[in-house]
Amino acid sequence: MKRLSVILLVAASITGLLGVSSPRAADDQADDVGTFMRAKLEHSKNVLEGLATENFDLIAKDSQQLTLLSLDTDWQVLQTPEYTQLSLAFRKTSQTLTDAAKKKNLDGATLAYVEMTLKCVECHKYVRSVEMTRL
Ligand code: HEC
Repeated sequence: MKRLSVILLVAASITGLLGVSSPRAADDQADDVGTFMRAKLEHSKNVLEGLATENFDLIAKDSQQLTLLSLDTDWQVLQTPEYTQLSLAFRKTSQTLTDAAKKKNLDGATLAYVEMTLKCVECHKYVRSVEMTRL
C-alpha cells in the first residue's frame, strides 16, 4: 500500500516536471472564475427573493455583495475600455439597488433590479462578441 502511494507520488512529480500538469492548472483557474461568476447569479437570485418577500435586509446585503464582486480582481476578465465601462454601469445599478433597499423603497429597488439585470445581459453579450472575434 505504502509502496503504491510512493510510486503514485513519484509519477505525479514527474508529470509535474514534464509540464503535463499545466493544462490541469489552467482548468482549475477556469473553474475558479466560473465559481466566482456563478456567485453573481446566487446573489441576484437572493435579491429577487428579497424583492418578492419585501425583505429589505436581504436585498441590501446581496446587492452590496454584487457591488463588491464587481470590484474584485477576478471580475476583471477582459482589459478593455468597454469592459471597464460595462462594469462601472453595472456597479451603478447595484449601488442604486442597495440605496433603494436601505430607504425601504420597494418599487425603486425593483426597477434598479431590472436595470441591473439588463447590465448582466449587456456585458455577457459583449464578452461573447469578443470571444467570437478571437476565434
Ligand atoms: C462587466 C461584465 C459583466 C457583468 C456586468 C456581469 N457579468 Fe457575468 N460574466 C462576465 C464574464 C467575463 C464571464 C465569464 C465568461 C466566460 O467564462 O467566458 C461571466 C460569466 C457569468 C456566468 C457563467 C459562470 C459559469 O458557469 O461559467 C454567470 C452565471 C454570470 N456571469 C452571471 C451574471 C449575473 C447574474 C450578472 C448580473 C447580476 C452578471 N453576470 C453580470 C462578465 C459580466
